[in-house]
Amino acid sequence: MKITKPLNLALLAVAGLTFACGGGEKAAETTAETSAPAAAPAQEVSLEDKYKDDPIYIKGLEKVKGSDCTSCHMVDRKIVGPSYAEVAAKYESTEENITMLAQKVIAGGVGVWGEVPMPAHPGLSEEDAKDMVRYVLLLKK
Ligand code: HEC
Repeated sequence: MKITKPLNLALLAVAGLTFACGGGEKAAETTAETSAPAAAPAQEVSLEDKYKDDPIYIKGLEKVKGSDCTSCHMVDRKIVGPSYAEVAAKYESTEENITMLAQKVIAGGVGVWGEVPMPAHPGLSEEDAKDMVRYVLLLKK
């Protein structure tokens, strides 16, 4: 008895430690799992989701996808050119701005956002360029 009792206590202590550790890891895993999906929807209420049912969005996206815009522009992140969200934040969606920006997409341009030029898109009709710009300017946060 004198020997087994402390041994039992020791075993209990070991078991307790193991449990505590296992439990601790589990808890950490669970929080990691629950916090990840919780963070994703916050980002997922993206501009795409926000405007996806807007006819301007649908029409403009169709045309933008059919051209080369996506190789230099992303909706929410600057790559070669400014993000559409940045452009939308800079310009009000007025007829005047739409015409001016459509001309710039067709003719190309440089110097508003930095030293990298946007090449000309001479194959675009003014109407297509305007629909694209309307879509870009819609993407306000
Ligand atoms: C080769 C890369 C490239 C491609 C392809 C491209 N762009 Fe750009 N775009 C840029 C860059 C760089 C700028 C910034 C120009 C500046 O600083 O004046 C820009 C600027 C813009 C602006 C803002 C202009 C301003 O004066 O503020 C709009 C709108 C735009 N692009 C739309 C488009 C559309 C629509 C397409 C597809 C038809 C397109 N871009 C294709 C690189 C590109």
